[in-house]
Amino acid sequence: TGPKPVSPTGTPSRDDRAASAQQGEWLTTAQGDRLYDTDHSLKAGPRGPVLLQDHHLREKITHFDHERIPERVVHARGAAAHGVFRGYGNAAGVTKAAFLGEGMETEVFVRFSTVLGSRGSADTVRDTRGFATKFYTTEGTFDLVGNNIPVFFIQDAIKFPDIIHAGKPHPDREIPQAQSAHDTFWDFVTLHSEATHHTLWNMSDRGIPRSYRMMEGFGVHTFRLENAAGETTLVKFHWKPRLGVHSLVWEEAQIAGGVDPDFHRRDLADAIEAGAYPEWELGIQTFPDTPEQTFEGIDLLDPTKIVPEELAPVQPVGLLTLNRNPSNYFAETEQVAFHVGHLVPGIDVTDDPLLQGRLFSYLDTQISRLGGPNFAQLPINRPHAPVNDMLRDGMHQTAVHRGVAPYRPNSLDGGCPFTAGAETGADIDVPVALPASRKVREAPATFDDHFSQARMFWLSMSAPEREHIVNAYSFELGKCYEQAVKERGLQSLANIDPDLCSQVAAALGLPAPAPTEPLRDALPSPALSQVGRAWPLD
Ligand code: HEM
Repeated sequence: TGPKPVSPTGTPSRDDRAASAQQGEWLTTAQGDRLYDTDHSLKAGPRGPVLLQDHHLREKITHFDHERIPERVVHARGAAAHGVFRGYGNAAGVTKAAFLGEGMETEVFVRFSTVLGSRGSADTVRDTRGFATKFYTTEGTFDLVGNNIPVFFIQDAIKFPDIIHAGKPHPDREIPQAQSAHDTFWDFVTLHSEATHHTLWNMSDRGIPRSYRMMEGFGVHTFRLENAAGETTLVKFHWKPRLGVHSLVWEEAQIAGGVDPDFHRRDLADAIEAGAYPEWELGIQTFPDTPEQTFEGIDLLDPTKIVPEELAPVQPVGLLTLNRNPSNYFAETEQVAFHVGHLVPGIDVTDDPLLQGRLFSYLDTQISRLGGPNFAQLPINRPHAPVNDMLRDGMHQTAVHRGVAPYRPNSLDGGCPFTAGAETGADIDVPVALPASRKVREAPATFDDHFSQARMFWLSMSAPEREHIVNAYSFELGKCYEQAVKERGLQSLANIDPDLCSQVAAALGLPAPAPTEPLRDALPSPALSQVGRAWPLD
């Protein structure tokens, strides 16, 4: 919007100072002291030396020296947009979340990303894509921090540093950048059979989307909803793009990556600028909240599993429209901080052990990435609901808190009362039946099946899609230096499908191993009447 005109008095109001970094007609130092030259340093004569007393020179260079902040440890490369979410009002049977109410409009900010590449890497690489949405609701901020692939590599957050160490570029040469075609990635996913399903999605066309505008999004984990009557339902979140799901083919991705490494971020920004606003429907799959937390034999707490839409159809509950590009990449796309723990009444987490670890990780990493504990005060992170917390001071504190008693109860500042209705916060009151148990470091037996859903995915593919998958595995495994890694890759494919394995083995010039697991077809064939609990939909 450019510099603001100076006010008649020449003094910006307090609001102006908070809202804008640039006011007035002339350049100043950070202290507002007027500058008359920012092109020459102060010297003892035209040929120097430069004088240490030149505060403007030192301020300018010192600030520049500290312009960069750490990039995200994952999902470093991203592109984002503002928009609006409109609730359809048909989810009241399962959740009291106000933003899903009929016609309710909520401002949102969505950041899409690749996972593994650094901030300057190319857009069109084969990778999972992040799809993170911040809903600035009247009840506080709700973040849906999802991906474009509905399952994850691991079942327990304690493995997250390991999979990311394996997926990031090799520590010795720092290559390859943002591609899975390397030994450590394949070493990890072939030694951890629970990664098979996600890896297969990555090797499919889903790993190279045509556009951010043409991707599905998934919350991945199962969440818990609560309606106004206190009844709970388990749920998986989906984003369905109005433009449909489209992918690049490998050759297109390679050419686009070379000719325009910004292919996806340019596509998103250009479309919005042209008024072709991308839209997604938010949908939910619902499941009865039973003590077992399973549905049709699928463990809902296992993030390597989907629930097929044939068993639980996705019910649309609202529409997302992205209609405004960020005006400052750093202030918005870079400084935005999502967190799976940002929840509103009516939506809560489950005991999925991957989700539980994420609840710790995001705040922790953002304290370091965004320089202390006060990043919620940054404009892009500020809730659009009133904030009245008892958090005080800390690095980069910009709020000037009133009162003397940031504790409760107190008798000095009005007692810090809870607002009416606070008992309806996001913690859903479900009976927690913890079985008598010992402390264990182990996964439940229901997490053991690592191949049947990968097989289901492979069997659901059309002939050209299968060909793309065979080519992707052949290329990626073919790039590995270690013979043992290639062989384990083939073993994992044999356990998905012998035909897939033999085609990739032929391309690699290696023998195709026999399956070591029974080939189980995952898709049960229940009548659709067995779909989750009934709830009112228009
Ligand atoms: C970003 C951790 C699993 C989606 C991040 C970041 C961390 C992280 C540290 C960087 C955040 C920042 O600097 O602001 C973890 C851990 C996981 C995990 C510990 C598992 C234990 C997942 C899963 C999904 C996901 C399963 C998808 C469902 C994202 C997205 C971002 C992100 C979309 C980028 C957010 C943005 O655009 O700023 N994750 N993650 N993560 N994660 Fe995860």
